[in-house]
Amino acid sequence: LYLLNYIYYKGKWPIGFDPALTKLDEFTVDENEKVPVQMMKIEKHFYTFDDEIGTLVLHLPFSNSFSMLLLMPDNMTTLENMISPTHVIEWLKVTESRDCGIYIPKFSIKTSYTLNDVLKEMGMTDVFDHANLSGISKEHNLTVSEVVHRAALDVDEEGASAAAATGNVVFDSCLKQDLKFNSPFMFMIVERSTETILFMGKISNPNL
Ligand SMILES: *[C@@H]1O[C@H](CO)[C@@H](O)[C@H](O)[C@H]1NC(C)=O
Ligand SMILES: *[C@@H]1O[C@H](CO)[C@@H](O)[C@H](O)[C@H]1NC(C)=O
Ligand SMILES: *[C@@H]1O[C@H](CO)[C@@H](O)[C@H](O)[C@H]1NC(C)=O
Repeated sequence: LYLLNYIYYKGKWPIGFDPALTKLDEFTVDENEKVPVQMMKIEKHFYTFDDEIGTLVLHLPFSNSFSMLLLMPDNMTTLENMISPTHVIEWLKVTESRDCGIYIPKFSIKTSYTLNDVLKEMGMTDVFDHANLSGISKEHNLTVSEVVHRAALDVDEEGASAAAATGNVVFDSCLKQDLKFNSPFMFMIVERSTETILFMGKISNPNL
């Protein structure tokens, strides 16, 4: 018996990003490697800087009850060690809007995990050898051979409504001039009413 779980998320932004503003730019993978990426420009957004962890937090609500959080830390190890559900809940409250140029790379990820060892470590062991699964089939003595989880996510300019016309936006009250997600960052997709994290991942190189 194989257990397969697949999750695909393709959210629509309330207002799409203008594809005409998407430009080729550079992403710093590490001190030795830079790769080209398509950077999308966002006009309206919520962001803050979390001083405790030292990470830039961008909160992008989709047009449903989901939000994407993008986290670009000063030090990824620190973020990975310190991040907790409490932080996530706080970051979802960031709804202060500022007008300044924010750039995020287009990315698309597909991952596949075999969960046999993870589930065994969590105590789910019987199902892999001697659970009684006769309720599923009496013909064979079933055991679970493999549990596979796949996740796919596409992030691009597409919105529920067309991209906002790009007038000459006056940028003010920026922390820095422009904020670019041009080095490794973490992302999350969270359902706001239940504060459930559906996706959590790290983009080290948007081209892989
Ligand atoms: C990042 O933080 C970790 C521990 O929190 C530290 O060991 C490491 O040196 C830091 N890296 C940089 C580049 O500062
Ligand atoms: C498995 O469960 C079914 C239904 O409860 C039962 O009839 C059967 O005897 C069980 N088989 C074994 C080997 O325990
Ligand atoms: C299933 O296992 C039971 C008990 O181990 C055995 O008696 C039975 O013959 C097996 N059935 C099949 C179809 O292999």
